[in-house]
Amino acid sequence: MHVLNTSLAKTYAAQHTVMLLACAALLGATAGAAHAEQKFGFGHPVTPKEIVAWDINVFADGRNLPDGSGTVTQGGTIYAQQCAACHGSKGEGGSGDKLAGGLGTLASDKPVKTVGSYWPYAPTLFDYIRRAMPLTAPQSLSNEQVYAVTAYLLHLNGLVAEDARLDAKSLAAIKMPNRDGFVPDPRPDVSQSSDSSKTPASDKPATQSQ
Ligand code: HEC
Repeated sequence: MHVLNTSLAKTYAAQHTVMLLACAALLGATAGAAHAEQKFGFGHPVTPKEIVAWDINVFADGRNLPDGSGTVTQGGTIYAQQCAACHGSKGEGGSGDKLAGGLGTLASDKPVKTVGSYWPYAPTLFDYIRRAMPLTAPQSLSNEQVYAVTAYLLHLNGLVAEDARLDAKSLAAIKMPNRDGFVPDPRPDVSQSSDSSKTPASDKPATQSQ
């Protein structure tokens, strides 16, 4: 569960949703769903309501954030009830990840990755929490509750004031401390590289066909 780093996990989650939507579009477009149901005895045509439930991607720039808002204070109550058992009462971590602190440690010998020290964008925090937390009941929180608990986590990281209320606009306007800490990886993608002669022999996967 901890093997994927956070951004990979999010990319995976986003791709997964896109794939589901693509499948949904295919099923709908061919109008063969009802036919398939008769032929194979399972499945059903995807309803617009189901598609809306899957279409929950929030993008880094805040696109697709829902209406609604929530305060740090409301978030503190929700957090204490539904998050603290795993993440610690102040986000210090437990069976779940540490969510606060670690600012300025990324380049040190002991980097501490938290929401505050590592995450480059605030809107994707909303996406992650709505999609995946609490771990035992994902997608059980309302949009208002997700705004609130997002605000609380940002407050624990010193990024919004104690009396803050966040909505789509104010959440997207937050500049996370590590916003510019991600750089493009210039290394070639070995499996797709047409010129493998440039790849040092030691870097070639053992199974690569010549
Ligand atoms: C039952 C334990 C549990 C509960 C309750 C829980 N979490 Fe988590 N949380 C986890 C675990 C475990 C992970 C790591 C998941 C992974 O790496 O795939 C995680 C990951 C996260 C992350 C991503 C951290 C990072 O930097 O990668 C956030 C943010 C988060 N949780 C927020 C919340 C919030 C907000 C709540 C309450 C609404 C909550 N969690 C409730 C166990 C829990």
